[in-house]
Amino acid sequence: MIKNLQNADLFREAIFIGGAWVQAASARTLGVDDPATDRIIGSVPDCGAAETEQAIAAAADAFEGWRARAANDRSRLLEAWHALILDNVADLARIMTAEQGKPLAEAEGEIRYAATFVKWFAEEGRRSSGYDVAAPDTDRRIFVLKQPVGVSAAITPWNFPAAMITRKCAPALAAGCPVIVKPSDLTPFTALALARLAELAGFPKGVFNIVTGQPEAIGQTLTSSPAVRKLSFTGSTRVGTLLLRQCADTVKRTSMELGGNAPLIVFDDADIDLAVRSAMISKFRNAGQTCVCANRILVQDGVYDMFADRLAAAVSDLRVGPGDRDGITIGPLINDQAAAKVAEHVGDALSKGASLHASADAAGLGSRFVAPVVLTGATSAMRLASEETFGPVAPLFRFRHEDEAIAIANDTDYGLASYFYTENIRRAFRVAERLEAGMVALNTGAIAMEMAPFGGVKMSGLGREGGRAGIEEYLEPKAFHIAGLHI
Ligand code: SIN
Repeated sequence: MIKNLQNADLFREAIFIGGAWVQAASARTLGVDDPATDRIIGSVPDCGAAETEQAIAAAADAFEGWRARAANDRSRLLEAWHALILDNVADLARIMTAEQGKPLAEAEGEIRYAATFVKWFAEEGRRSSGYDVAAPDTDRRIFVLKQPVGVSAAITPWNFPAAMITRKCAPALAAGCPVIVKPSDLTPFTALALARLAELAGFPKGVFNIVTGQPEAIGQTLTSSPAVRKLSFTGSTRVGTLLLRQCADTVKRTSMELGGNAPLIVFDDADIDLAVRSAMISKFRNAGQTCVCANRILVQDGVYDMFADRLAAAVSDLRVGPGDRDGITIGPLINDQAAAKVAEHVGDALSKGASLHASADAAGLGSRFVAPVVLTGATSAMRLASEETFGPVAPLFRFRHEDEAIAIANDTDYGLASYFYTENIRRAFRVAERLEAGMVALNTGAIAMEMAPFGGVKMSGLGREGGRAGIEEYLEPKAFHIAGLHI
């Protein structure tokens, strides 16, 4: 139960398969809690293989009809979904804050961000086109047709309960692929509300399906089904590699948006105030629970102390508390394990020589509320140098030369996002080209937007979401040869 919803119809405790809202065959349910209070706010069907198979069958039945529609027609439905999402921003944000914990203003920001993908792909769907190729003989023509890959599955995370769904489903739908969404057990209500709005927008039965419940059984059923032709996953590298192995037997297309260990490099010649402002955005958005957030802040010797002091002042101003309270900028972490991991990383760093340079206040709020901190004297021996902390911890590493910064930045198995700050244009190109990451940001901490490709290299994943590349992940290029033309 979520208080103060203007449209209580958006709060759904059922799954959506083939255009119907149903319960698990076993009638079992899973409770979902509010991370700020630990109280159960509702329950969702605890589904497994049986319901997933029904969803796959519904999506497979819908495929022929959906792919046969004109792109404009699919686009019109996406535009309707987009409008409904924007009409319901306040309620969707409330639902998200209640199950995920992020402050209301941030939740509203995420809903608007999620809506941008629906709009973008409504438009991209209309622009999508194949091409022709110069043929080797005069009596032949070669065309490349772009066709939908087929039924697509999206396994989505708890940190962005809305945006990761729209970033995957909008391009799939625009391309002509029906979708089956498996949202995180921790944040299913935002997903179900989006499904309700998709229903109201008028998507045909079976085109948008959503199944909640047991991750292993649902994942195994989706990955082993020959009818599912594409899997898009956002989550940990551990689970991503497991899903990739499971997808191998049916040779599925996959997009994997996995873990990160982003460096944020501040050079001596940076605009320090800008670097501090954007480090705050990159590091503390969603309480540091983002794959692209700065995990390691590398600061050049000459500006290290100045940067540390200014960042400390900004961090001390953060307000930790329940996301539905006015003025809160950092909500609770998603669960006790997440909070314990942050405490372990901070404890490990302090035991290996780091110093606590600043901390905001989280006293007395409960076990999931973690005080944002700035640690100075971070080194590669500390766990936070090689593992994603996924929390509000800003460790500052010191470096002397550009080469050293690049070596530290690239000394990780991951390669999702990288950020750096300099006013020197030559350095800007040198560094951007040498950083091993799918996304590199100069003088900004914000890189996630609908028109730009999002994704990583190395252990951070495969494929791209958003931008022009996003829809290609759901399109199969088919070469069409026409011979014997004798023109
Ligand atoms: C993520 O953390 O995986 C997504 C971040 C974003 O879209 O901004």
